[in-house]
Parts: sequence; C-alpha cells; structure tokens
Amino acid sequence: MSDEVEMFNHANGISRRDVKKCLEEYSPRFNWPKSKARVLDIGSCDGSVTTILSTFLPSDYEVLVGAEINPKSVKFASDKYGNKRIKFVELDIAGTLPDDMKESFDHVFSFFTFHWVNDHLKSFTNIYNILQKDGEFFAAFIIFSDIYLIFEILSKSKKWGPWMPHFDIFPSLYYDYEDPDVPVTKMLKNIGYNVHDVRCKQKLYYYESVAIMKELLTAVNPFDIPKDLWPEFLEEFIQIQRNMHLVSEKGVKSHYNLMIIHCSK
Ligand SMILES: C[S@@+](CC[C@H](N)C(=O)[O-])C[C@H]1O[C@@H](n2cnc3c(N)ncnc32)[C@H](O)[C@@H]1O
Repeated sequence: MSDEVEMFNHANGISRRDVKKCLEEYSPRFNWPKSKARVLDIGSCDGSVTTILSTFLPSDYEVLVGAEINPKSVKFASDKYGNKRIKFVELDIAGTLPDDMKESFDHVFSFFTFHWVNDHLKSFTNIYNILQKDGEFFAAFIIFSDIYLIFEILSKSKKWGPWMPHFDIFPSLYYDYEDPDVPVTKMLKNIGYNVHDVRCKQKLYYYESVAIMKELLTAVNPFDIPKDLWPEFLEEFIQIQRNMHLVSEKGVKSHYNLMIIHCSK
C-alpha cells in the first residue's frame, strides 16, 4: 500500500484542485470564534490535501490533525508533511470513537473520503461527538462519477466480472440516488446538526494524461484483479474512455458530482 500512497501523492491533482476551489468559495463562511483552533481532517491519506487545508486556517491555529484508517498512509504523511502543528493519526471514522477525541476539535473537515465510507450515520454521529459546541463540519466527496460507470460496465463483462463480484459496495453510497441532498440533510438534522448547506455540484476534470489516469486507478483500485492482468484491465478501461470520446490532446476527461456539506453543532 505504501506504493499506492506514493502513486496517490503523484496523481491526486483532482482533489488538490477541488479542495482549493471549495475552500476559496466556502472559507469566508466559516466561523472561527476563538483563537488557537483545533482542526481535524478525516481521510488525510498522503497528507497533501491536509497541507493545502492548513493554508486556509487562521494563522494562530493550535493543531491540525490528519486522521486516516490506513497506518501506511499515516506514516507516509507524517514523514512527508508532519511538523510541530500538523500531525497524522490512525482513526476509523465509522468505528468506535476513542474517548480522547470526544468534544476535542473546533472544526472537522473531510475531502474525497466519504465515497469510501459506507456507514454515514455512524461517521457523521462520531463527527458530531468530536466537535465542541458551535464547532463546524465541512466535507466534499464524490456522489457520482463516469469512472464508476466504466467500472460497472467492466464488472458486468464475462472477462472481468468474476474479479469484481462486489461492485455494488465500491461506488459512493449515493451513486444510484435521485436528489441525494434530501436524505443527507435529513440525516444530519436528525443527528442534531444545524445544517448550513448540503448541495450537489457538477464537476469536470481533465486528467493530464492516460498515464496519470492509470496511476490514479491503480492507487484507488479496490478489486482483487491479479497483478499480471492489471495492465490489460487498465487498457480496456481506457479503451472505453476512448470509445466515449473522453481521451484527447487535452487529457482524459471525467464528469463527476461532488456533495458539499457544511453544518455546525
Ligand atoms: C481518496 S483518499 C482522500 C485523500 C485526501 N483527503 C484528498 O482529498 O486527496 C481517501 C482516504 O480516506 C481513507 N479512509 C477510508 N475509509 C476511512 C475511514 N473509515 N476512516 C478514516 N479514513 C478512511 C482512505 O484510506 C484514503 O486514504
């Protein structure tokens, strides 16, 4: 997995771009009532986006903790981006919350992570319990992507289907939803949050090249496709993109939707 973290670090231009854009748009709306803010970034992976987040915080923030389920990513991020105020720790946001996390942060952020997490009720409840009174939660994650569609096409083929029997648990929870903002808003309100914004944003991204596209797919691939067949799988994936006229001199085009959540305790 450390290879995958390195690949992710090289190929995550999409999340670096979108997180900057989201924070430019939303950070003027954040409420920083006191000095020495304590900030948590859930799903920090390689740590590059946590570092981008740090540039949007008040300069006197106390600590920014990147929390991540994968210990190898925690080590990579600590080695590459850790410093006196930016730390990385292991945490499963959908698991049992350690006692010392309770009511210990003023702001919780999470980027490009909740499409990997299946229990949103448990996770968002944990985040509510992590926040101090008046604390804020801001998240952006994928709810639809043409990349999911292509994986789905391949999962239905005779050749690749046997290696992808659990395709259903791979895409975002809301992949097949109409108006996913409605149930998510309801869930957040039921937990006790004041909901400021829940919206679906249509997005477009050009992966710089076929090589970068392949690198990102390799970094995030959840299927047990044998190593020796993986290059062939990637070629078929790209061929579908070519057939859809998504590959051009501009790179590899991808359409996707993000859900944005902004709420407070
Ligand atoms: C696609 S990466 C996003 C990394 C970074 N936030 C970004 O925007 O580039 C998602 C990360 O979430 C982590 N993750 C998945 N499930 C998690 C969970 N239940 N708790 C904490 N982290 C989780 C994965 O290990 C992965 O590193």
